Amino acid sequence: MLKPYFKSDDNNFYLLHGDILELLPQFDFKFDMVFADPPYFLSNGGMSVQNGTIVSVNKGSWDKSHGFDYINDFNRKWLSLVRDKMKDGATIWVSGTMHNIFSVGQILVELGFKILNVVTWEKTNPPPNFSCRYFTCSTEQIIWARKSEKVPHYFNYELMKELNGNRQMKDVWRLPAIQSWEKSCGKHPTQKPLSLLIRLILASTKCRAWILDPFTGSSTTGIAANLTDRRFTGIDMELDYLEISKNRKIEINNPSVAETYKTKIAGFTQQTKLPDFLQNETDDSELKIVLGFCRTKEISSLKSRNTFYFHAIESNKRIVDFPTGISDSKRLYLYSDRNTRTIQLTGYSAEIGSIQLKHKSTIKGKEQSKTEYYYEVILKDNFTMEESMSFEIDIYKLFDMSDEKSREYFNKYIPAMVSFDKLQKARQDLTIDKETGSDINPKV
Ligand SMILES: C[S@@+](CC[C@H](N)C(=O)[O-])C[C@H]1O[C@@H](n2cnc3c(N)ncnc32)[C@H](O)[C@@H]1O
Repeated sequence: MLKPYFKSDDNNFYLLHGDILELLPQFDFKFDMVFADPPYFLSNGGMSVQNGTIVSVNKGSWDKSHGFDYINDFNRKWLSLVRDKMKDGATIWVSGTMHNIFSVGQILVELGFKILNVVTWEKTNPPPNFSCRYFTCSTEQIIWARKSEKVPHYFNYELMKELNGNRQMKDVWRLPAIQSWEKSCGKHPTQKPLSLLIRLILASTKCRAWILDPFTGSSTTGIAANLTDRRFTGIDMELDYLEISKNRKIEINNPSVAETYKTKIAGFTQQTKLPDFLQNETDDSELKIVLGFCRTKEISSLKSRNTFYFHAIESNKRIVDFPTGISDSKRLYLYSDRNTRTIQLTGYSAEIGSIQLKHKSTIKGKEQSKTEYYYEVILKDNFTMEESMSFEIDIYKLFDMSDEKSREYFNKYIPAMVSFDKLQKARQDLTIDKETGSDINPKV
């Protein structure tokens, strides 16, 4: 089990210390989005100008170039590890300059990603060119790609259009470089501005999404994620940078700091635009799952517990009893009476604090060996009762019984959890056929 360097009290911000090439293979989690700001490999003794002073462009040993083959090899390794940790519909953003971006682009395609855009971030305040032999470098490129050719990705087209004065958002973003208020917890030599990260997060994720930054540095991605109610895991091999990251998270735990920061983000027509948008953003993970099978008499004991376990198995590289994605969910609902076709939603629900894989084992000796997973779900608080959520429902309507796979899930795991949309739908056209309603007696 990986031990985080830092885990925030709200469970929305995790930091891991180490080399991603070693840490990522140990992960058992899939993310909705990845932002990666990898080494650009431009620390080769050059000079630049910062606040009127000539400074070296060297960022650290992690940024030194060891030649084209080395850069390709490194990019291939981390991109393929990261791809494995992305959900099927997830997207990745990789930032770079001419030093690394061609390599990244080529390898993304080689690994089966589909490139969606190459965004150009045009800095409104770039440093001047010191040698006066080239144009001033005022842009960085950010490649946006989805995990696979066929699985659709999420894009908040409407919001992006709104931010661009009701015209389609272009792939050139004019945003300022890092501002001094963003360095209140210390300096990282290549810190990205929050405005850039907030725009790409809002464009490509839904509320409560899980975001990974494998080269987290000072965790601009994590701060942008938490300011916009997304969750975050960041990795870095430098402790000093993780310390800055941790302090940045502690800083925004103060609601008045967080609210002030939201008003300082560039790219919004008015200061209140981002806070207003966030307030109205619907959280469709909010009501996603129902926890199954508490017998009526067990409800009182369940109500006083705040830790549950879910069991899942992997078959043909798929975790088969999470068709509805518990990791995306925010709330658990209890229902009772597993033995009849009609179930009763008890009205008890609780907010999920965290979901973690606790144990994984492989069942050997079978024709096709299977992996079993035990997920621990910790609730933020005990269950509370909501009258409007107590109703009866036809369990068959929660599953598509015409589909063979669905029937299999239904019989095996019935229904450890079902999606709230399905529940709502079934509730709308609730017509329980009492004549044919038979016991289902599931084998769990
Ligand atoms: C370009 S910086 C990221 C800056 C970050 N976007 C920010 O806003 O602060 C890249 C970071 O990757 C880290 N790094 C480089 N190679 C790494 C590796 N193999 N594993 C983990 N971290 C690495 C460096 O320590 C550095 O902090």
